[in-house]
Amino acid sequence: MAKPSEDQIPSSRISGFYNLSVAERLQRVSAFAGLSADHAEQLARSGNLETDLADHMIENFVTTLAIPVGIATNFRIDGRDLLVPMATEESSVVAAASNAARQCYGAGGFTTSLSASEMIGQIQILDVPDPDAATAEIGRRRAEIAELCEACDPLLVSLGGGFRDIEVRRIDAASGPMVVVHIIVDTRDAMGANAVNSIAERLAPLLAEWTGGRPLLRILSNLADRRLARAEAVWPLAAIGRSEVRDGLIAAFEFADADPYRAATHNKGIMNGISAVVLATGNDTRAVEAGAHAFAARSGRYRSLSTWSRTPNGDLKGTIELPMAVGLVGGLTRLHPTVRALLAVLAPDNAGQLARVIAAVGLAQNFAAMKALATEGIQRGHMSLHAHNIAIGAGASGTEIEALAARMIAARSISAATAEAMLGELRARA
Ligand code: MEV
Repeated sequence: MAKPSEDQIPSSRISGFYNLSVAERLQRVSAFAGLSADHAEQLARSGNLETDLADHMIENFVTTLAIPVGIATNFRIDGRDLLVPMATEESSVVAAASNAARQCYGAGGFTTSLSASEMIGQIQILDVPDPDAATAEIGRRRAEIAELCEACDPLLVSLGGGFRDIEVRRIDAASGPMVVVHIIVDTRDAMGANAVNSIAERLAPLLAEWTGGRPLLRILSNLADRRLARAEAVWPLAAIGRSEVRDGLIAAFEFADADPYRAATHNKGIMNGISAVVLATGNDTRAVEAGAHAFAARSGRYRSLSTWSRTPNGDLKGTIELPMAVGLVGGLTRLHPTVRALLAVLAPDNAGQLARVIAAVGLAQNFAAMKALATEGIQRGHMSLHAHNIAIGAGASGTEIEALAARMIAARSISAATAEAMLGELRARA
């Protein structure tokens, strides 16, 4: 085959791509990738997010990616019934959360709490000649620092938030000691990244001057351990079924708590629920995930985010605690029309309540996963939903989907190859 000449090789150096209209960008992308007309048309549909709005949300926007949103039912949290929107591409997640919530609904559902709504901003200062003297100097200037912080964000202060505390840490890094200052800010109903980053950037040069050092990073920490959401619930033995199942769940938890290989999967199951609600409510899934996993490793070993035990009367009690930096103002929460509508479904009173609801969903998700794993395994429930997806992937539509999924499940063979063969047979008979 003849080698394409230099000028035939498509180049990714597209200057001013961001200045093009969305349609022009799509044209350039289609030409670059040699897209079929079908693919190009698919990318041109932006679903329920207006192109103009999406184009302002991120750079170089070309299309949207629709993720299904399901509503988890049966949640009773702190005495209030709630319908919880969950955005996820994974089958079984919404059903599992709803099932778990149903099994503890009669016992009162979930009880939750929040430690506070404080975020940490980190300011790194290098080349500090005397870290102990620097710590003392920063301590002496606490009132001045508080005043500077409050001046940075008067709106936050008027809403009851603002400066709460300051901490000075000496970190022994590979190249030597560095001073790291933590500014603690109550960010109320905001996730807080913008408020905290602005404050950190404002304070950094002053802190450097007072300590004789050189400021470098000024950024919020996602290990939001002053914003811990907690949830607990009791699943009555009668709802669980048998005492062996309850004990199986406890043994499953003990496995996760003792072994990082299992803990990673156990916590992934928790995050199936948590990230789905975080995404549906327009919050930052990566921030919450980073915080959760860092918190799970706070003892020096990566452990379970939840704990499970037998109550004195033989029921099963689950608890969960994790950082939950979510907001109801700023970011997508006000901007994205679908997020706004989904928030209207959940109707949280404030960001704290949203954080607590999310923790409860994480606990429910964990209960469901462990119960399935400790009994029949997850494949049966998972695969029946998965079978529908495989059937659609093979080209089934309308009533074919159900029929094909049922046949694959009965044959205990759920794969693209089986789906294609069986779909052929179904159509031949029709
Ligand atoms: C799958 O997405 C989640 C599980 O693996 C969680 C777990 O193992 O606990 C089922």
